[in-house]
Amino acid sequence: MHSSLPTAASLYDRVRRVIPPIEWPAFTDDIDAILTLRRERNAVILAHNYQTPEIFHCVADIVGDSLALARRAMSTEADVVVLAGVHFMAETAKLLNPDKTVLIPDLDAGCSLADSITASDVRLMRQRYPGVPVVTYVNTSAAVKAESDICCTSGNALAVVESLGAPRVIMLPDEYLARNIAAQTKIEIIAWKGHCEVHERFTPADIRELRQAYPNVTVLAHPECPPEVVAEADFAGSTAAMSDYVGRHRPARVVLMTECSMSDNVAVEHPEVEFVRPCNLCPHMKRITLANIRAALERNRHVVTVDAEVAGRARLAVERMLAV
Ligand code: 13P
Ligand code: SF4
Repeated sequence: MHSSLPTAASLYDRVRRVIPPIEWPAFTDDIDAILTLRRERNAVILAHNYQTPEIFHCVADIVGDSLALARRAMSTEADVVVLAGVHFMAETAKLLNPDKTVLIPDLDAGCSLADSITASDVRLMRQRYPGVPVVTYVNTSAAVKAESDICCTSGNALAVVESLGAPRVIMLPDEYLARNIAAQTKIEIIAWKGHCEVHERFTPADIRELRQAYPNVTVLAHPECPPEVVAEADFAGSTAAMSDYVGRHRPARVVLMTECSMSDNVAVEHPEVEFVRPCNLCPHMKRITLANIRAALERNRHVVTVDAEVAGRARLAVERMLAV
């Protein structure tokens, strides 16, 4: 027999610090419908740390950074995987689950990094640097992954680069992640010119102003931020690493130099920490809503497909990463 489903009403306590009571009624119908559909369809909802709290805390089964979502996508028993995140994440889930239905609620949930490079760009880099291994950030299309030796995320980039035993590595497409990793290793890194439109906007001056306005604030930055920003932060790491940092160190006051929803989601777990909230919105992540998650489950849309030959090669690059 099935255990009883949670209801929206029973979930509000969890998010009351970040969702005002006046906004909550707008979410309850969709939450209840999604929880029912999720069970009926034997679906699992994976949500990235940048999803809004009503998605992240109320309907997601699995939450995390890109690395955690890829790992968990590999081990799901569900028939349907709904990716509350952006398109490359849904493609990665499909690569790891070729026989499952993978749905993305909005096909236009893209990524400026994924858009910054094509498969033929990678082939050109290989021609220009013969024999140099290619490490590709997961924030890329399956076609780009297929041209790569191995993938990485911000959570494992250093370990992946150092696992290759090569003196030089091509690291695509995020220039800032590549430069931030180069600062931590003796391996020579050849970078591309892609940038995350959210993180490239933070500046060292932002950090200085924050430190002045909020004395003793702990500054955490994502490694997609420019190296000058990372240099002035107290810690840099993936979204999961930032969240762990708050849990382990419990700073009295913290600012996360990253996407806006991240602070809300972490704040729910740590009422004792004051979150200072200058942040930049990711318009792609914000395309995912409760309404389109519900529609995804009701209408089986949008089914993510990857060409079988491309998928075979791309999967190898992702699996090599997961083995590191
Ligand atoms: P991580 O969650 O892997 O740190 O990545 C952040 C990001 O920008 C994903 O789009
Ligand atoms: Fe892409 Fe940046 Fe948005 Fe992440 S936050 S999905 S890297 S544009």
